[in-house]
Amino acid sequence: MSEQVTGRSDMWSNSFIFVLAAAGSAVGLGNIWKFPYIAGENGGGAFVLVYLICIAIIGIPVMVSEIMLGKLGRASPIQALLNLTRTHNRSTRWSIVGYMGVLTGFLILSFYAVVAGWVCYYILRLFTGEFTGADASTVGEAFGGFLADPMQVLMWFSIFMVVTIFFVARGVTRGLELCVRFSMPAVFVLLLILIGYGVHAGGFVESVAFLFTPDFSKLTPQAILIALGHAFFTLSLGMGAIMAYGAYVPQSVSVGTTTFTIAILDTVLALLAGIAIFAIVFAYGLAPDAGPGLLFETVPVAFGNLPGGALFGGLFFLLVALAALTSAISISEPAIAYMTERSKLSRAQVALIIGGVCWILGVGSVLSFNVWADVKLAFFEWTFFDSLDKITQLVLLPLGGLLIALIVGHVLPKQVVYQELGLLQERAQNAWSIVVGFITPIAVFLVFIIEVIREVFTHL
Ligand code: TRP
Repeated sequence: MSEQVTGRSDMWSNSFIFVLAAAGSAVGLGNIWKFPYIAGENGGGAFVLVYLICIAIIGIPVMVSEIMLGKLGRASPIQALLNLTRTHNRSTRWSIVGYMGVLTGFLILSFYAVVAGWVCYYILRLFTGEFTGADASTVGEAFGGFLADPMQVLMWFSIFMVVTIFFVARGVTRGLELCVRFSMPAVFVLLLILIGYGVHAGGFVESVAFLFTPDFSKLTPQAILIALGHAFFTLSLGMGAIMAYGAYVPQSVSVGTTTFTIAILDTVLALLAGIAIFAIVFAYGLAPDAGPGLLFETVPVAFGNLPGGALFGGLFFLLVALAALTSAISISEPAIAYMTERSKLSRAQVALIIGGVCWILGVGSVLSFNVWADVKLAFFEWTFFDSLDKITQLVLLPLGGLLIALIVGHVLPKQVVYQELGLLQERAQNAWSIVVGFITPIAVFLVFIIEVIREVFTHL
């Protein structure tokens, strides 16, 4: 195949909309559902510190790289990498990152939408006042009861999937802007309300101490890999989602500034969610390491005890669902863009096919909490859901990120990169080359390799 696919008619109309879309992709269940529970499982402070370091030295350079590759390649991640490597006479094998990203997207979307389905059900549960005045154990049992019912979980997962396919089919920009512009500030306000509740209920100080006092004795090598993987997950990196969005960026957009804005927004929201949730955990003497149910076992308790809690609680889960929707849309974009380029099918048809495949995979995750709860992957004791979650976060995203850094640091001609990033001074150029060419890939490689070797040895 020698043809070049370049030039796209559809663009974000300005840089602000691109920032909104990328922020919409970044902020999602990763911040509000996942970050708090993995921080809780991994002992808090030290884990949070490692996560912040990973965002700074790995997440930010990889995000700059992804946006830049999208902008330069102007196509789906696979095609963008083919275009770029051909133009600069480099091996087209590097486009493997694009194919890996498409696969990773299917895997992530399938379980992500299952959790988003849980969130959708909780919109209803809160609005109807089910948790008004409820104590922590009632709320915990209510979540367990829900997960135990496969048909119920399947239904809400399917609803979320259908809504996602609908928006994906309509194209990237439409609707997304409105959704993000309205829901992001609102999530922020509701998190502040929750934190206010934590101050009132008495768990706030302990929560902040838990998240920000590093106790390195609790930091395992696996926790470091989890923090690294989560830095990729929360910023939507390592699978081409941001690269795919970068393909629609107007030439004038500054990659550096947008990246910092998105990374800061995403991190602030995750930390606020963590503070809010652990305040509830400590105020009620709950377990910080409750796992994936943490969000659903804590937040309803707080709203159940607040005046107007049914309304605000319902609104909170509605906003989380919207945040999950804008993320889910971006997870599917690399696959959607590639299939639309390569086939004669319409975007809507492609969306249906890809959504259908994700739905089938998602059924496995639905069953992981009930019928298949005892079906576990050898050695690791992971359910189907755990396996998808861990393999994507701990292996596929870091590997994708590593390759992306290598492409930008070593494969593309340096002048092309400097010019695209507007790096004119030699010092800035050198600093960038050292970070993306060495610091980022070596950091990922070390964490990854050390942990893989350790796992292999422990299981031998
Ligand atoms: N970042 C999103 C969140 O935190 C999830 C997400 C969207 C994602 N696009 C992605 C994760 C691409 C990995 C790769 O909820």
